[in-house]
This record gives sequence, C-alpha cells and structure tokens, in this order.
Amino acid sequence: MDRHPVVLILAAGKGERMRSDLPKVLHPLGGRPLLSYCLETAKSLKPSKIVVLTGHGSDRVRKRFASEKAVWALQAKQLGTAHAVLCGLTALKEKSGLLYILYGDVPLLKPATLRRMREVRHKEDASLVLLTARLENPKGYGRIVRETNGEIARIVEEKEAEDWEKEIGEINTGIYLARIEDIRAPLQQVKKSIVKGEYYLTDLIEELLAQGKKVATLELKDAEDAAEGLGINNRAELAHADRILQGRIRRGWMESGVTMVFPETIRIDASARLEPDVVLHPGVVIEGASRLRRGAEILPYSVIEESDVGAGARIGPFAHLRPGSKIGPGAHVGNFVELKKTALGPGAKANHLAYLGDATIGARANIGAGTITCNYDGFHKYPTVIGEEAFIGSDTQLVAPVKVGKRAWVGAGTTVTQDVPDGALAVSRQKQQNIPGYDSKKRKKK
Ligand code: UD1
Ligand code: CA
Repeated sequence: MDRHPVVLILAAGKGERMRSDLPKVLHPLGGRPLLSYCLETAKSLKPSKIVVLTGHGSDRVRKRFASEKAVWALQAKQLGTAHAVLCGLTALKEKSGLLYILYGDVPLLKPATLRRMREVRHKEDASLVLLTARLENPKGYGRIVRETNGEIARIVEEKEAEDWEKEIGEINTGIYLARIEDIRAPLQQVKKSIVKGEYYLTDLIEELLAQGKKVATLELKDAEDAAEGLGINNRAELAHADRILQGRIRRGWMESGVTMVFPETIRIDASARLEPDVVLHPGVVIEGASRLRRGAEILPYSVIEESDVGAGARIGPFAHLRPGSKIGPGAHVGNFVELKKTALGPGAKANHLAYLGDATIGARANIGAGTITCNYDGFHKYPTVIGEEAFIGSDTQLVAPVKVGKRAWVGAGTTVTQDVPDGALAVSRQKQQNIPGYDSKKRKKK
C-alpha cells in the first residue's frame, strides 16, 4: 500500500450564502465549529500531514484551532476551488504521494468512506477518485455527467448546467483522493469559469481525462450514506445537517446503553459523554463536553451545559446546570434550580427553586427551597462553602464570600453574612410578634 496520505482541507471561502459575520466553518454544529468535524475525520486517517487552507476570516479560524497540529496555508483571494488546491499544494513539500481533498463545509463524512476511496484508487490505479452521492434534492451541487458506458465524463456546476443536466441526481461531494504528481500540472491548465469568474476544481476531471489519466468514482448510494456528502452553504442546510447529526449521536448513545424517552426531543452535543444506564427524558439538552455517569437520570426539560453529573444522580425536571457544575453521585437537583460552577457533594439535595453559584456543597447537605447564593457584588464573584450534612433552611440568602460549617443549621429566611461554625444554628430573622384581635380592630376603625 502507499505511504501515509496528506490531507488538504479547503476552508477559505466566505460562505456568502450564510449571510453572516462569522466565517462559515466556525458556525456551530452539535456544539462545535463546522471545521472541527472535517479535522477529526482527517486525523482518523493518520495522515503524514494536515494542511488547512484559510482565507476569509483566516485569523479567526486559526485562532479558534490554534491547538491543532496542522499546517496553515493561505489563499488570500478566493479565486475558486481549483486555485485553492493549488495554494494548498504550494504549501506542501510533498511532490508525490496521495492527497485527500476535503471541504471544511462537508461535516458528516465518515472515515470509513475515505478508506474505501483509498481501496478504489488502489484497485483501479486511478490518478483521482471522486466521491459522489445520489441526493433526492441535488439542487446547488455539481452534477456528475457520465458517458453512455458509465465512465465519468465531467462535472457540471448547477449555475452552468443545462436543464437535462440538472435532472441528474448524482452529485459531486467535493471530496477527492488524488495522486499529487498526477494533478499538479493539469490543475494549472484549469481555466476560469465564465459564469462565476472562478477556477473550478471540478474542471480538473476533464483535464485529467484529456491527458489520458484514469478518474474513478465512489458513490454513496442509499439515502443514509448520501447524508455524508451534505455540504453546508446556508442556514437551512446547517439545520438539516444538525438533524442528521443528532440522529447519529442519539443512536450511538442508545446502542451503548443510554435510555431515551421520546428521543426526537433530546439534543446532545457531539462532545458530551454518557455512560450506560443514563436515562434521558423528553426535552433534555446536553451541551458541551458534559459527562453523565452511570445511572444518572435527567428529568424532562433540563439543560446541562459543560457539567459533570455523578452516578445515580437525579436532575430536574426543569433544572439548569450551567458550565463548571459537578453533581456528586446520588445527589438531587430539582425543579427550577440553577447551578453555576458549583459542586454538589454526594447525596446532597437542592430540590426546589434555588440559585447556587460558585459554591462548594458538602456531602448529604440539604439546600432548602428558595436558597440563593449572592455571589456577585456588581464587580466580582465570591465563593460560598457549605459543609457536609449542613441544613440550609428555605429562603436563605448566602452573601458570599461565606462559609457554613459541617452539620451547621441555617433557619428559614436567614440572610447569612458571617461564617457559621460547625454544628451551630444561624438565624437572622426577627422574632415573630402576634397581635391578637387585629382583624376585628382594623374593621371597626373603617
Ligand atoms: C463545490 C463544488 C460542487 C460540489 C460542492 C459540494 C466546485 C467548483 N464546486 O461547490 O461541484 O457539488 O462543492 O459541496 O468545486 N473554497 C476555498 N477557496 C475558494 C473557494 C472555495 O477554500 O476560492 C472552499 C470553501 O471554503 C468550501 C469549499 O471550498 O469549504 C467549497 O466551496 P463552495 O463555494 O462552498 O463550493 P460549492 O458551491 O458548494
Ligand atoms: Ca459548499
């Protein structure tokens, strides 16, 4: 077999049709920028090198992916996909070997498909293998025009297609595998399109064929596979890809032992990790690199962002875990409870109507209904620490920074402004006065 391939990712385009200030490849899909999918697929091929071509919004794209081990190449002016590949090749030292060309806006491609392209290339000893797909709605894509014997003849772009060509359902996914030494010269032969004034990579096919080079294709046939070839040019296509990705993510977690009630209503970001016997109820949203451990149950309409939920914990309904929260094993977080950067110890409970921010709460502590950590003074955030088995009465305000000791008690309605020692009781409310017969006296006056 050949040496390790090189991967070139094209991501210089403006993404005009997104109508956005954000570069297209930074738009989020499943909680991660579009480009990250392509990069991940590229890495799975164990390439000798990944070159990412940026142009429009280059600084922002590079900054976002600063930690990636990639070679960054620049296409200062977006003169088309053929020009883009030439820019990429210039940045490469490799003069020969295999090159995968991926598009930053085609996120659902699977590594196995790219490996199949490699087998096809090898078997047919082709200069280039092109990945095609059969789409129900091929609008907007380049169409594959074939000879009567079935061999590929050329690709025609939608904008330049005749009516009969627009009827063709087989499209160009824009994913190629090529022998560098075979495409270098023909690429330079590609002429500007009269319609768009761009150099089309798709015209490389005709150039190669004219020089007697072999071009092979691999087709994604059934509808599910074809989704791998979806390109994202506008927001509707982004939403469509998102729906497909969510289906894949949910199916994946269900296969690995997660129960989902009414799965179509559940959203899980691509970076989340779920353990077996987690149960997710309708309307649950899991965002970012959240982690849900064994047997955790998330009740309806709860939102979990970048948080860690311990084994057997119960969250919701209607709970909100904001980034940096850590729920201990067996802990409970109930309705209308919001946590931010808060650790709730094992078996601790905050069951109703509370805001707990920047807090560390000990094991088996009980947080009463309506408890609020006052963690922000308008300038800075301050921590609250609550000891193990402490009991915080309902409607307590904890004015941070403040500490409540182990097995300490806080009376309902207390505003805690000073630390409470271990085992002590804090009460700050006024003693209650009862005035007998008040109602009848008041009525007589009127
Ligand atoms: C392209 C293909 C089309 C195919 C479709 C698949 C061409 C001419 N057309 O069309 O046949 O069906 O993809 O999704 O290739 N890019 C650059 N520099 C440029 C232009 C584009 O880096 O100068 C990058 C873009 O960032 C994008 C990719 O190349 O990642 C494709 O460009 P785009 O403009 O989206 O091409 P399509 O019109 O979708
Ligand atoms: Ca595109």
